[in-house]
Amino acid sequence: MDFRVRKGALASLKADLYVLGLFKGEALNGEAEQLTAHFPLAEALKGNFKGNKGEQLLLLSAGARTLPRLLLLGLGERAKFSLKVATEVYGGLAISLKERELKEAVVELPLVDEDGPVPADLALVMGRALAAGTWNFERYKSKPKGVALKGLSLRASDQPAKALGDAFLKGVLVGEGVNHARNLAQEPGNSITPGALAAEAQAIAKASGGTVKVKVMGEAQLQKMGAGGILAVGQGSKEESRLIALEYRSGRKDARRLAFIGKGITFDSGGISLKPGASMEDMKYDMSGAAAVLGLFHIISRLKPGVDVMGVIPSAENMPDGGSYKPGDIIRLLCGKTVEIVNTDAEGRLLLCDALTWAERTFQPDGMVDFATLTGAVLICLGHEMSAVLGNDPAMVEAVVDAGSRSGDVCWPLPLAEDYKAMVKSTVADIRNSTNTRDAGTITAACFLNEAVGEETPWAHVDIAGTAWVPKKGGYVPGPTGVGVHLMVDLMGTFAE
Ligand code: BES
Ligand code: MN
Ligand code: ZN
Repeated sequence: MDFRVRKGALASLKADLYVLGLFKGEALNGEAEQLTAHFPLAEALKGNFKGNKGEQLLLLSAGARTLPRLLLLGLGERAKFSLKVATEVYGGLAISLKERELKEAVVELPLVDEDGPVPADLALVMGRALAAGTWNFERYKSKPKGVALKGLSLRASDQPAKALGDAFLKGVLVGEGVNHARNLAQEPGNSITPGALAAEAQAIAKASGGTVKVKVMGEAQLQKMGAGGILAVGQGSKEESRLIALEYRSGRKDARRLAFIGKGITFDSGGISLKPGASMEDMKYDMSGAAAVLGLFHIISRLKPGVDVMGVIPSAENMPDGGSYKPGDIIRLLCGKTVEIVNTDAEGRLLLCDALTWAERTFQPDGMVDFATLTGAVLICLGHEMSAVLGNDPAMVEAVVDAGSRSGDVCWPLPLAEDYKAMVKSTVADIRNSTNTRDAGTITAACFLNEAVGEETPWAHVDIAGTAWVPKKGGYVPGPTGVGVHLMVDLMGTFAE
């Protein structure tokens, strides 16, 4: 797929298809009026096209050869237009165009009000949504349908095009990172094992031309350092557990340091506390946090952010076996705390604690964010629309919320309050990995993670169990979403300022 920026007057534009976004109930403005010479626009705008969000109407030219097709695209009400709406509309556009045999579809950047989205943010989100919308996963199909569309371009009428074009192309790059994450999440558990994630990290480092370094620690090393959380979770699996670290250096002297941690359970059966059979196949996506971190590192050497970034992926497969860890076992985490295992299905928090401790000790980050498909409870709470964010530092949580709304990876804060912290205490060990009730499940999971994080490290935890995989959502096909990649890109931008 070819993504470009097109300049020049509309009258001289040549393309298979031109896409014009229109707000609800609004007439054509300025330049676009020229289109009435070749397309039956007057009738369309009077009758069958209303401009409702996501609405599409294809018009054929009465004669012009340079622009044979015009697609009207509804943007909904002008006052309600946001980056989230843009994601839905332009993501949906790419999904519907990808099977059409076209060399190039040119998409016009909509002109928004001053209190609407910033044009550069909009161009970026459009790039990401269009690139992500063309994603398909057909590796295992004997007869793949393929993507027929060859090119998607952005056109901006009377704007200084350079900055907008750059933002669009950056968005396309972010979309590539998002799609990379989705490919990994969609891969089945027999293909993506902890070893395969490590190989993926090594391939990324190799392709980076030296800007990304990678370190992979296997079970022998984890044993030596005392990473009892990762080891316990993986001990019932035939696959060797790993702790994978990626590091990007900006080259700036006083660069701030960000650590991103991604949960990498390549399959979560629940272990001895076995999950019910229904939908268990979905648990291959329990490495979506890891996939997001790898998606980011897949593009980081081309993004060149002005911050130093460490990606940390603790990875294991959670399986029932004679050698598995069991309810009642007591283990010791890398941070030194002992844990009473109450439920082997609460595995994510165990291996994440070790990764958080390791990241803190080796990297001393100025900010640390983990992404994890951690709890079913977050689905009850927020559904598939938003991720939950909790942390030990209000400013860090706020930075994640802001990055979430700018990127479309929306996050909503939950309280990491004292009242909940007592719920993870154990009578026989320091802490327990599950409470006896389902109450406040997302919060108590975060309280557990908090036990491994030092007070001096600003940290936020993002529970993506509801957002990493969607049944159907505006701008996305059902399946993995790559949530987190764009949020991290945005957050790196604020940390680089
Ligand atoms: N990976 C699951 C969480 C999950 C559930 C992700 C549904 C996506 C969809 C996690 O390891 C888990 O099993 N959590 C348990 C914790 C409980 C045993 C305390 C849960 O949420 O039920
Ligand atoms: Mn589990
Ligand atoms: Zn899990």
